[in-house]
Amino acid sequence: MGIQSLFPTLVYTDRLRARDWRALNGRLLRECRQLKEDDAAGRRWSARNYPGGYTSYGSANRMHRNSPSFAALARELDRHVARFARRLQFDLEGRALAMTDCWVNLMGRGTVHGLHLHPLSTISGTYYVATPAGSPGLKLEDPRLERFMAAPPRTGADAGNRVWVTLPARPGQLVLFESWLRHEVPSHRASTARVSISFNYSWF
Ligand code: NI
Repeated sequence: MGIQSLFPTLVYTDRLRARDWRALNGRLLRECRQLKEDDAAGRRWSARNYPGGYTSYGSANRMHRNSPSFAALARELDRHVARFARRLQFDLEGRALAMTDCWVNLMGRGTVHGLHLHPLSTISGTYYVATPAGSPGLKLEDPRLERFMAAPPRTGADAGNRVWVTLPARPGQLVLFESWLRHEVPSHRASTARVSISFNYSWF
């Protein structure tokens, strides 16, 4: 018998280990809500590109440089990204993966984030700040999907053999994946905002 698992798609999840992550999370939540109030350009960008929600993706996307709270989050994330990179067996040629972008997402009821990937980055991910009941998870797509020919359905298959996997969103938790992995966030179902912080890491 010789069956091997080749070309795996690795996804990393963990909880923030900062000793007082709840305090940091509280500061981040206040700053995310305040940013929405202050960032008129971002609200305009979101009205066109993120109906029902607010994202600073198009306006304030270097939050790790703008805010000590976000910088503290970035220092925590750096450790997780380094650990993930080791598991992926990247040869970084002596360089470190560095955070390039960091932005805020507030989803209102009915907001969706359609299927996308993060071009020109190496590792992408999200940290969850507030996920009221009814908050959607992160839905990941099998990167081989477009090549499947005559593939039978995999009803009831393990997560590793499914073509879509949804990871639940929980406050204080983070998820990391390689930036080429397509993902989406289905419709938010609560009146209270689902708040997350997304980021990209690159090695050049
Ligand atoms: Ni994304």
